[in-house]
Amino acid sequence: MKYFFILYAIIAISVVGIFKYRGHSFSEPPIQLLPDMDDQDVLKAQKQSAFFADGQGARQPVTQTTPLGFQVDGANKLGGIPEYEFSGGTGYYFTGHVGDYFGTGMPEELELTPENSLELLKRGEERYNIYCSACHGVSGDGAGITGLYGVPGIANLTAPPFSAGSYPDGRLFETITKGKGLMSGYGYNIPVRDRWAIIAYVRAIQVARSAPYDAVKDAFEAGKQQQEAATSSK
Ligand code: HEC
Repeated sequence: MKYFFILYAIIAISVVGIFKYRGHSFSEPPIQLLPDMDDQDVLKAQKQSAFFADGQGARQPVTQTTPLGFQVDGANKLGGIPEYEFSGGTGYYFTGHVGDYFGTGMPEELELTPENSLELLKRGEERYNIYCSACHGVSGDGAGITGLYGVPGIANLTAPPFSAGSYPDGRLFETITKGKGLMSGYGYNIPVRDRWAIIAYVRAIQVARSAPYDAVKDAFEAGKQQQEAATSSK
């Protein structure tokens, strides 16, 4: 330990001796062992520039472009979709909460009817396959491709803890919006209505997973026969 302190003192003295004590101002340029980004060709705000013909350092936006976050038609847009489609509202539809608790069921803002429900489900399937399947797998079992490349602990969405009975729709909404543990949130990528579509589809996967073997087998056979009939009639 004694030698450590002696060595430490020698190193400290030589560092200060070679590179000088930096606590006071001096006129010589400092020694830059690793210059990194110390020197840059940038202009400070409001400074003039000889580079541009008008001598003005700060530039106007290029014609026909919109700076990020600028007002377009009175509303910010994310990927061409008005920002209010992503957040901003209160109530179950926008938060998944009913008072202090998570709610469950599809919110009335979706204006679901027997006719348009299938459409929402199809949209959910498409969005799920885009946003969730890489990790959670196409069938929701958590065996998506990213698991093979090292994303650990991906939840199996078809497991009992995530079923509608134990994991309310509102909680699923919150997980998609804000993320959970190792999963990041998708609130800024997936509009509110699409989040509900994904929730509907996740429920469909869960129900499909627990369907009795015979029911699946019969449906599979029926589908196969239909397909055979369609191809043989060509
Ligand atoms: C980049 C990979 C990845 C993507 C994409 C992803 N997840 Fe996850 N998800 C995870 C991981 C990892 C966990 C486990 C998080 C933990 O417990 O730390 C998880 C956990 C969950 C959970 C359980 C959370 C809890 O309360 O324990 C749900 C529900 C879920 N994800 C739904 C979704 C849905 C729906 C999507 C698509 C919108 C999605 N995830 C997209 C990686 C992902």
